[in-house]
Amino acid sequence: MQASSKATAAAPPVASKDDRKLEYRNAMARLGAAVNIVTSDGPGGLAGFAATAVCSVTDDPPTLLVCLNRGSSAYPAVSANQVLCVNTLSHSHEDLSRLFGGKTPVKERFEGASWSVLETGAPALDDALISLDCRVKTISDGGTHDILICEVVAIRENEGGQALIYFDRRYHRI
Ligand SMILES: Cc1cc2nc3c(=O)[nH]c(=O)nc-3n(C[C@H](O)[C@H](O)[C@H](O)COP(=O)(O)O)c2cc1C
Repeated sequence: MQASSKATAAAPPVASKDDRKLEYRNAMARLGAAVNIVTSDGPGGLAGFAATAVCSVTDDPPTLLVCLNRGSSAYPAVSANQVLCVNTLSHSHEDLSRLFGGKTPVKERFEGASWSVLETGAPALDDALISLDCRVKTISDGGTHDILICEVVAIRENEGGQALIYFDRRYHRI
């Protein structure tokens, strides 16, 4: 065996914080996810936003989590209301997702579809694949986002329909 050389390998380039953020965002773009509209109403006012960061936690009691950007227009209302409704979109809701995922004023967002209420008063989209009406139980710090752990208190399902999936920064139907 040869003695080890004194020459050291060139250190790998140090990725900046922005590089790592971009790499992560590009990776997350490859993580296909169902598209939802999360709504809220109550003393804090009406709010709604498009969301893919929605995930089941447990069925006992029925619990899901939603990640909400603290800088979003919906944040003050959702925080004050402590209720929300997760409306999972069907393949026919691409335009509605763009409406709730852009900078349109909140009243105009809701004019784009038909809504009712289930138990909490948060708007439930009438033709959503499913609407999961929730009370916020706990809120964890996720840096730029709050992680809302929510108990599901009412569910409405619509039969049929295909899912709307966000993958590779584009909408897809399955
Ligand atoms: C496909 C898609 C998924 C999104 N997912 C989330 C999410 O999970 N959580 C979140 O806080 N914002 C999410 N957003 C961004 C919000 O919809 C966005 O903040 C809001 O609608 C526009 O910002 P504003 O309400 O502050 O004007 C998503 C947007 C799109 C288009």
